[in-house]
Amino acid sequence: MARVIGEHMATSNPIVKTIAGLHVPYARHPRVRAIKRQGHHPSIHGTKLWNSSGVLIDYIASTTPLGPQSVIDAGCGWGLAGIWCAKTFGSAVASVDADASVMPYLELVAELNDVQVTPVVARFEQLDAGLLGATDWLIAADVCFWEELVDPVTSMIERAIESGTKRIMISDPRREPFFTMADTILSDFGGELVEWRVGTSRQSGVILVIENT
Ligand SMILES: C[S@@+](CC[C@H](N)C(=O)[O-])C[C@H]1O[C@@H](n2cnc3c(N)ncnc32)[C@H](O)[C@@H]1O
Repeated sequence: MARVIGEHMATSNPIVKTIAGLHVPYARHPRVRAIKRQGHHPSIHGTKLWNSSGVLIDYIASTTPLGPQSVIDAGCGWGLAGIWCAKTFGSAVASVDADASVMPYLELVAELNDVQVTPVVARFEQLDAGLLGATDWLIAADVCFWEELVDPVTSMIERAIESGTKRIMISDPRREPFFTMADTILSDFGGELVEWRVGTSRQSGVILVIENT
């Protein structure tokens, strides 16, 4: 017999999975279906939660005892990495994405995890030095997946470094454009490229980490 836990059902066909202690809805979740029916169809790959978010969260959880006061999660999609920072550290999180259609999914994931983040519809190019410099961390997961994203992502990171964002962490499943971007940042500013695997799982990736202090 199914056991009802809030709106999650403990059945063989669950509607929510757990990642890093957070509730993440499957595509079959009735609220996800309702958002789709309302016509929200992300068009720049913000259609689901990507593995790089889990890799980034695991890296932060394993290496960072003390969290930041403020975080920008750039290209947030469904927003798990920023939501995890809000939940774990109590950080004020701006969840930024160019695609307004991801925002209802972001808000659902935040609600399922009982946290609040601030949704912001903006492109990487629009994150200016003032905003970046006033924020402790810039994080992003799987945002450099096309050649045409190399320049906007590179210059966003450059602005963050130059304006004093304290820590920058960009995770990726090892796509070519990401390495093009990372090579430029590493040679111009330094930093570290960290290979990361989540426990003994098959979930792995690479993270560009810049300590800017
Ligand atoms: C592959 S998804 C990754 C989403 C999320 N970070 C995750 O790991 O699940 C890439 C996200 O970047 C966003 N994006 C693409 N180009 C962007 C731009 N120029 N400015 C801001 N967001 C952008 C997309 O809308 C999409 O949500």
